Amino acid sequence: MKVLVTGGAGFIGSSFIRYVLRNREDIEIVNFDKLTYAGNLRNLEEVSTDPRYAFVRGDIAEPDHVGAVFQQHHPEVVVNFAAETHVDRSIEDTTPFLRTNVAGTQCLLEQSRRSGITKFIQISTDEVYGSLGTQGAFREDTPLDPSSPYSASKASADIWTLSYFKTFGFPALVTRCSNNYGPFQFPEKLIPVLVTNAMEGRMLPIYGDGLNVREWIFADEHSRAVLMALDLGRAGEVYNIGSGHEKTNLEVVREVLRIMGKPESLIQFVKDRPGHDRRYAIDCSKIQREWGWQSAVGFGAGLAETIAWYQSRQDWIQGIKDASYLSYYDRMYTRRDETLSRLNR
Ligand code: NAD
Ligand code: TYD
Repeated sequence: MKVLVTGGAGFIGSSFIRYVLRNREDIEIVNFDKLTYAGNLRNLEEVSTDPRYAFVRGDIAEPDHVGAVFQQHHPEVVVNFAAETHVDRSIEDTTPFLRTNVAGTQCLLEQSRRSGITKFIQISTDEVYGSLGTQGAFREDTPLDPSSPYSASKASADIWTLSYFKTFGFPALVTRCSNNYGPFQFPEKLIPVLVTNAMEGRMLPIYGDGLNVREWIFADEHSRAVLMALDLGRAGEVYNIGSGHEKTNLEVVREVLRIMGKPESLIQFVKDRPGHDRRYAIDCSKIQREWGWQSAVGFGAGLAETIAWYQSRQDWIQGIKDASYLSYYDRMYTRRDETLSRLNR
């Protein structure tokens, strides 16, 4: 089976490609990625010479690029990981989120429908459901109520995907996963910011009171569930994916510091993110029941493995922390108060 994976040079897309090529001999992968700041072919060094793997650089929002990769490779299945993914960047500039996440998904759906794709998996997020209070968990039928431009764009893409099923009978489905962590995550998301800053003895920035809750899943576990969606997922359905490991951001930062043997004095509370969702939690009983899937990696074990990976990959970190990263970091953290008040004006 030939699978077109979009966004395969990013954090989770590359985990999926490595995971599939390690575990399945019957699958060939074409990785179609624009290589934005978040795309990194070093994430795929392990598979780059595998004859079942090919890379094509292109933009999911460009019909000519998408048309060309379909014409050249004739994929049977599409898994769409490609997206702009960082909430803070979506607050700074919403435009790339509309273009890639919404128009890009529509462009990919349209080409896929015309090409007779047999399954289209839209990779989505629990953030489309909005924020929870202290109790309860998101179910697949929880109404969509996104808060950030990022989650609004992902919710829109989900609706577009499901509309292709309802209108055209196109075999598309949506998976919605909770917060991922693990090796190869770009150091703009919480856990790699904490780990790489602690390695450099820098302050660890915690937004607001640090009591926002996220449900953390090891990325390879997400990949394992997406592979099950490829085999077992039904068209027109939504599937939640989660681990049950709910943590406040303060619990996360303390655990990182404990594993790394660093002092809690590195924690610095900084100005909160506007529209910051308080709590996410996922009810994934549907995939437990239908596919027998269950997360098998504990948070402590996954975090220790992640930290050890960053500690052993200074080369990877140095490759990421270039001038454009340092400028991003300066805007987001060093001049955080100034940047947020400018955005709020
Ligand atoms: P990432 O930012 O690490 O990678 C995104 C990838 O998409 C990059 O390789 C980038 O180059 C590529 N890309 C961006 N725009 C593109 C375009 N127009 N055309 C082609 N490629 C493009 O993201 P990630 O964390 O790996 O997330 C992957 C997917 O999983 C996203 O759809 C995201 O919404 C979803 N998701 C992420 C999380 C999480 O915790 N990171 C949780 C749930 C769902
Ligand atoms: P993030 O990794 O950006 O994921 P998301 O916002 O998509 O859930 O953030 C996870 C949590 O950590 C969220 O509550 C915001 C918070 N956070 C910080 O406290 N400090 C940081 O430097 C970052 C990036 C996030």
